[in-house]
Amino acid sequence: VLLVYIISIKSKIDQMYFEYKNNILNWYGVNLKNITRKVDELLLKEYNYEGPYYLYSESLLNDRLSRFKNIFRKSKFYYSVKSLSNIYILKRVKKFENFGLDVVSGAEILRGLSAGFSGEEMVYAGVGKTSHEIELGLEHKLKSFHVESISEVRQIERISRKNGVVARITARLNPDIGVNTHHYIKTGIEESKFGILPEEMKQLYDIVTHSPYIELSGLQVHLGSQIMSSAPFFKALKFLQKNASIAEKELKKEIEYLSLGGGFGINYKQYMKGKPLKEFPLEEFAQKLNEINNSPWRIDFEPGRFISAPSGVLVSNVLYIKQRQKTGIVICNAGMSDLIRPALYSAFHPILSMEIRSNKKRKYDIVGPICESGDFFAKGIDLPVIDEGDKLIVGFAGAYGSVMGSNYNSRPFIPEILVSDNEIEVIRRPQSGTDIFQYELNI
Ligand code: LLP
Repeated sequence: VLLVYIISIKSKIDQMYFEYKNNILNWYGVNLKNITRKVDELLLKEYNYEGPYYLYSESLLNDRLSRFKNIFRKSKFYYSVKSLSNIYILKRVKKFENFGLDVVSGAEILRGLSAGFSGEEMVYAGVGKTSHEIELGLEHKLKSFHVESISEVRQIERISRKNGVVARITARLNPDIGVNTHHYIKTGIEESKFGILPEEMKQLYDIVTHSPYIELSGLQVHLGSQIMSSAPFFKALKFLQKNASIAEKELKKEIEYLSLGGGFGINYKQYMKGKPLKEFPLEEFAQKLNEINNSPWRIDFEPGRFISAPSGVLVSNVLYIKQRQKTGIVICNAGMSDLIRPALYSAFHPILSMEIRSNKKRKYDIVGPICESGDFFAKGIDLPVIDEGDKLIVGFAGAYGSVMGSNYNSRPFIPEILVSDNEIEVIRRPQSGTDIFQYELNI
């Protein structure tokens, strides 16, 4: 059962980031103290739950999705489900006509279907699709399998032939283009596990030419995540256009689209009102792309973070504080099992006190409760004096936050809450302790 609380707030998207008003933190113009008080009440009453949670804003989500409206001529967009995959979020994405889904597993196909998308509105990426997942994709007539190796193409052809259906595929090419981002999220360089090398494409053309059960609908690249400038995309576009001409010659058939993947970045360090947000120059890029793209192919995208990251925060309580010589150690009830990005990529996420109660600042390490020293959100940051019981807000936690959560230390998955102008909805209930080990009983 979906739990809904009726509220009334006036969000102002022009104030979308953080700001203190009368020492209370506001997020896109909304007083977070009022909202979290209501959420706390609801979670305590309904689930006897007092832990951390993810809070998403429907207004911000809509605002980010509308940024893609009408600026790219003819393009189609496939929201990258893996960045924030809650079904109720996907249902919001569904309201935007120019959006389908980019999925990376069988279960993400099922999520998409549950949210009301048809298979025709999904593209399926990933280097290791299993035969079960391929069967599922064929059954639901996916728009395209974004294939990553010649062996995968052979496997899809075998399965579609067995089932007497035609599989549409898109070759994800490895363009060997570097981008300026964390090494773990560079995906378009030669040494990465992703994509098919251009020199391997001959084998793909052979398979497609000789089989009526497989069709090449497009070519794709995905360069990486957190890309801040247009230049690598234009480089990749040239690369795709060149390869598309070759493909059409080889196959004597037209291909439908080129996809430049996702990766539009946001700088999480600019988060206070008054400082403009630094992010990928989307509108400028679209304009330039429209001007220069006179090739016959449609150009599609698979954005994730650009939409989901600013739309969510992690809400956490301070359990204990202990003093070390130089810094205070603030132990929160949220940890790396809830948001792993600082531990895994040394990623920066802004940490903000919900309420400023002192003009004095101190140096703090903000850490989680998990038995592991990598379990921290920030080290040595200056914050107004914090007390036990205070609330801390971790910003830009919408993308790759909840979805990368784990049950490490047998910690339950935390709830997800969606706030709109007139409702607070629990879109994922808290997992209970026994939920975590249910699969270990009665096997
Ligand atoms: N398309 C493909 C094929 C991808 O592999 C990805 C992300 C996207 C689209 C969406 O990229 P975005 O627009 O969100 O940057 N866990 C990492 C990010 C991994 C991204 C993997 N690929 C993080 O927390 O930074």
